[in-house]
Amino acid sequence: MKDVISLGVGEPDFVTPWHIREAAIYALERGRTSYTSNLGLLSLREAIAASVEKNFKIGYSPKTEILVAVGVSEAMDIAFRAVINPGDEVIYHEPCYVSYSPGISLAYGVPVAVPCRAEDGFSVTAEVIERAITPRSKLLVLNFPTNPTGGTMSRPELEKIADVARRHNLLVMTDEIYSELTFEGGHTSIASLRGMKERTIFLHGFSKAYAMTGFRIGYACGPAEIIEAMMRIHQYSMLCASIISQEAALEAIQHGEADTLAMREQYRVRRNFIVNAFNQMGLQCHLPRGSFYAFPCIRSTGLDSKEFALRLLESQKVACVPGSAFGPSGEGFLRCCFATALDRIETASERIARFVQGLR
Ligand SMILES: Cc1ncc(COP(=O)(O)O)c(C=O)c1O
Repeated sequence: MKDVISLGVGEPDFVTPWHIREAAIYALERGRTSYTSNLGLLSLREAIAASVEKNFKIGYSPKTEILVAVGVSEAMDIAFRAVINPGDEVIYHEPCYVSYSPGISLAYGVPVAVPCRAEDGFSVTAEVIERAITPRSKLLVLNFPTNPTGGTMSRPELEKIADVARRHNLLVMTDEIYSELTFEGGHTSIASLRGMKERTIFLHGFSKAYAMTGFRIGYACGPAEIIEAMMRIHQYSMLCASIISQEAALEAIQHGEADTLAMREQYRVRRNFIVNAFNQMGLQCHLPRGSFYAFPCIRSTGLDSKEFALRLLESQKVACVPGSAFGPSGEGFLRCCFATALDRIETASERIARFVQGLR
């Protein structure tokens, strides 16, 4: 369709900052076109170690505890394949990123979803996790700030979950891809809590914070024996991540903080606008404390989320993702990515308001 405003795809509308693109160009100019170590360039792993230490207060050895991968996507896939035995149960909270459940199934694990509720700001409780634990439970997957809800977790809440993981001897995989895009309240990683580093696989990447989705670079930090097992799968399936992207990622992690902060402030303005617009048109919308997604409730319209999204697209040419795409608890909600220019968001909001008005 022509003239569609898309709030659909979950990626920054910003182009990668110029100095980062320049680092990729310079890598090519210098003839940096070879393979790297399977684990990734040591210089990049050292910079990752320094960044994770500074921002998350967790110390990892660049030689044995960090692996550079082709996006968080690959890091997640090889983490699942490294730690899951057939039939192992993996607990994750939903609504969530669409790859978790298929990724677990592809590794012959059993996905076990626990719900998050709008009333709790889409955080997950230790109680609901503990209730889902069985003797087959192996791994707990966390993603805060969350795609698609923008939910975050306070440190005390995370402490309770860490306690559950320690008592039940669970491994934890934490997907930190939106952590820099936390608007208020600060961000704590579960890996930084007492007794958690040794049982946690910490995944992070460059796609969202530095607007580098097309570079396909992410990383995993974790206990040396898990990183070693992941490295074997990575070695035989991917060999290594692109050296050009790794050089760009090195520039980003060393000199890109100001860009991330500037983009985050833009997202904050857009977030405040869109959340306000939804509430004004009568679609209740909680304030996402992180990520770049608004998740308004559309139940008051009487439509289910897929029908709402389809009819909105057909009649007003605004593309959003039905909440049900992210799990059963997403039914009745709509994911709207606000990593889109403010004037486009303004027009999209007017169109959505017109659509909602027409339903009444
Ligand atoms: C929660 C979450 N994890 C991982 C990814 C994939 O990230 P990458 O581009 O690093 O593969 C996404 C992409 O949307 C995401 O939302």
